[in-house]
Amino acid sequence: MNVLTTADEVRAFRTGVGGAGGTLGLVPTMGALHAGHLSLVARARSENDRVAASIFVNPAQFGENEDLAAYPRTPENDLRHLESLGVDAVWTPSPGDVYPPGFQTFITVEEVSAPLEGARRPGHFRGVATVVAKLFNVFEPDRAYFGQKDAQQVAVIRRMVADLSFPVDVVVCPIVREADGLALSSRNVYLSPGERRAAPVLRRALLAARAAFESGERDAGRLRAVLNETLAGEPLARPDYVSVADAVTLLELERVAGPALVSLAVRFGGTRLIDNVVLGGT
Ligand code: PAJ
Repeated sequence: MNVLTTADEVRAFRTGVGGAGGTLGLVPTMGALHAGHLSLVARARSENDRVAASIFVNPAQFGENEDLAAYPRTPENDLRHLESLGVDAVWTPSPGDVYPPGFQTFITVEEVSAPLEGARRPGHFRGVATVVAKLFNVFEPDRAYFGQKDAQQVAVIRRMVADLSFPVDVVVCPIVREADGLALSSRNVYLSPGERRAAPVLRRALLAARAAFESGERDAGRLRAVLNETLAGEPLARPDYVSVADAVTLLELERVAGPALVSLAVRFGGTRLIDNVVLGGT
């Protein structure tokens, strides 16, 4: 496995892959890899001649009061996992490799970035879109792999790819969960034992909303009420938002007629967790 540092090294790797006529799959990550990330790598491995990953804790997508400095970092473990899954190259840039001196070019995906996570984390999706555009330009992947765990991130990247004609297929992979339903997240390590026991309430709330939908409920307000009622049963859970939105525009719905993204963000102590389910098709 090639461990690359500079953008020029990535380009040289890419030239080799393209010269051999092969396809390249890219898995962008911020490291602290868990089975959710690795499911993306395995999917990329099965669909491409060459697979690359990136590990970069992207400062531009963290707010001032967020956990940039504390974000978990497990580089040796990450490289071992990527190598064992047959990854050909991994880019582990420093901030200066991604954002050279004088950097001042950012991508803003306007409407889809505005609600939900974007409303609570100003500038977050500007940082995500900018770094993902940079990754796409440097790697020129044929396919790029993202998790449905971060549903709004997927909507933002899809919009950016369509709007700016990036020649890349965006492949979205299902959410990988613990046995009790908690979605895997690098931030789960912040949970105290009691919070960890409480956290599956996110999944229970989503399943309750899905069950209501499957019983015929189409009133989005009543589906939000189902989410809130389930969360209210868990004293450690402090809901940030619950949402029933159009799966493409992410605008809040009154009634569910087409595919809907049901999503929520909940705080447990200092840790904020998100999860979602799509109703009515994907
Ligand atoms: P990170 O949080 O490291 O996640 C990397 C990828 O793994 C994302 O596409 C995310 O949706 C996916 N992922 C995380 N948990 C998952 C789970 N439980 N099941 C399935 N997929 C999961 O998302 C980012 O990094 C960054 O914003 C990035 C796209 C790398 C840009 O900096």
